[in-house]
Amino acid sequence: MTAFLLRPALGDDARFLADMLVEAANWSPRNQRPRLQVLADPSLALYVSGWMRPGDGGVVAESSSGDRIGACWYRLFDSSKPGAGFVGGGVPELTLGVARQWRAQGVGRELLRGLCGMARAAGHARLSLSVDHGNFAHRLYVGEGFVVVASTERSDTMVKILR
Ligand SMILES: CC(C)(COP(=O)(O)OP(=O)(O)OC[C@H]1O[C@@H](n2cnc3c(N)ncnc32)[C@H](O)[C@@H]1OP(=O)(O)O)[C@@H](O)C(=O)NCCC(=O)NCCS
Repeated sequence: MTAFLLRPALGDDARFLADMLVEAANWSPRNQRPRLQVLADPSLALYVSGWMRPGDGGVVAESSSGDRIGACWYRLFDSSKPGAGFVGGGVPELTLGVARQWRAQGVGRELLRGLCGMARAAGHARLSLSVDHGNFAHRLYVGEGFVVVASTERSDTMVKILR
């Protein structure tokens, strides 16, 4: 069993969250974009810009030596500037990423569970996300209780009821 622990995300995790956003955007080996290009894309930058603002919540996984190895966080959007997984103004949308060398060791699932617990404790009734077709993360989300509520040619929007 890999040793890691979860802690709440803080304001000074902004750069690491941006790193994990780049990992999430580059989930497909066939579509790898440079960090700067990902973060210059307004449809992606909105997941981390100005972190951490009121309403933001997140969890960070750290290895036993204190290195940050993954993060899962949520943000609230409104219909004027929605995320790809937007389902409503009061429903936070999550982002999930694990550093490459730490994948397939249970970190992503624990981060997702931790974030769901955090969102529930903050009073949220639902969490949403967007996942591209072909990303195996889809199976992780289904296993953790997310259901598909909308689909495009490229991606599914999924929602989990928290209470
Ligand atoms: C998706 C991601 C967050 C999962 O985190 P992880 O720590 O690698 O995943 P876990 O070890 O917790 O495994 C969770 C489940 O994912 C699936 N999974 C993990 N690695 C897999 C692999 N290499 N191939 C296929 N399925 C895999 C399995 O269903 C697994 O559950 P199981 O172990 O019970 O079979 C991580 O791989 C990642 O950062 N990928 C790139 C970014 C990304 O795609 N983010 C999500 C965008 S929507």
